Amino acid sequence: MKRKVTKAIFPVAGLGTRFLPATKSVPKEIMTLVDRPLIQYAIDEARAAGIEDFIFVTSRGKSALEDYFDHSPELESALRKSGKTDLLDTLKATNMDSGAIAYIRQHKALGLGHAVSCARKLIGDEPFAVILPDDLIASEKPCLQQMIEAYQDTGGAMVAAMEVTPEQTSSYGVLDVLSEDGSVVKVKGMVEKPAAGTAPSNLAVIGRYILTPRIMQNFKNIERGAGGEIQLTDAIAYELTAGRDIFGYKFEGERFDCGSKAGFLQATVSFALKRPELRDEMAGFLKSLDVDKALAG
Ligand code: G1P
Repeated sequence: MKRKVTKAIFPVAGLGTRFLPATKSVPKEIMTLVDRPLIQYAIDEARAAGIEDFIFVTSRGKSALEDYFDHSPELESALRKSGKTDLLDTLKATNMDSGAIAYIRQHKALGLGHAVSCARKLIGDEPFAVILPDDLIASEKPCLQQMIEAYQDTGGAMVAAMEVTPEQTSSYGVLDVLSEDGSVVKVKGMVEKPAAGTAPSNLAVIGRYILTPRIMQNFKNIERGAGGEIQLTDAIAYELTAGRDIFGYKFEGERFDCGSKAGFLQATVSFALKRPELRDEMAGFLKSLDVDKALAG
C-alpha cells in the first residue's frame, strides 16, 4: 500500500493573456463555465480523489480567486430565508474547510516547475498531486482518482497522458515510451515541447500528476528548459537519471484545453449539453445554427 495522496498543488499564477481583456480584472480560473468558475471543476475532481489539502500557487491580481473560497454567510442566510434550498446546497458545496486551503505566491513567472517548487515546504515528505485547472477532463470516474488507483500498484511518479496529433506535440510535454501495460505506460524519457518532427511519440502529458516528494529536490539539479523556463517535465524526467520509475497513465475521459478560447467554448457547449435543465434548449440552438453560412462568411 502506497502512502495516501492527500495534498494537491494548483498552479494558478498565470496571467491568462489569451483571454484579455477579460483577464484584466478576472483571473482566468474564475471565468465561468456554464455557471461555475473553472477552478471549481478542478477542486471537485481533487476532492473526489481524496485530496484534503489544497495548495494554490498564485500571483498578483488573483485576489478574486482567494475570495471565491470564502464562506458567504449573508448570501447563505438570504437564500435560507427565501427557501431557495437548491441554491443554498449549490453554494455550500463550494465551501472549503477552515485550514484546508493555502496560498503561496510565485513572485516571478519562471515557469510551471518553478510554480510547483514554490509549494515545497507545504508538501514536506509526502507524495502529492498537481492539477492544472486549464485541463478540464470530463469522465465518469474523475481522472485524478483513476490515477491514484493506478498509482497504488505502480508507485513512482505518474503523469496523465493522451494521444495527440504529430502537429500538436510541440505544445506539450511528450513521453518516450518504454513499454505499455493497459492504461499504464512505462516511460524512458520525457521532453517538454519538442521541436516539430522531433517528438519521441504522440503521447502528450496532460495536467494531472502524482509526484513523489523527491521531485521537489530535483529542481536543484535541473537547468532552465524549454522557453527559458523551469519545467516540471524536466524535474520529473530527472527521476530517470536517478534510476527511478516514471509512468504515464492513459486516462478515460474527454479533455478540454480551457487555456485556449476554442477549448473553453467547446467545454462550455459540451458541459451545457450534459445539464438536464439546459440540454434541450442548447441542442435546439445548436441544430438551428447555419454552420456552412458562418464558414462562408
Ligand atoms: C504544461 C506542461 C506540459 C503539459 C501541458 C498540459 O504546459 O508544461 O508538459 O503537456 O501543461 O496542458 P503549458 O500548457 O502550461 O504550456
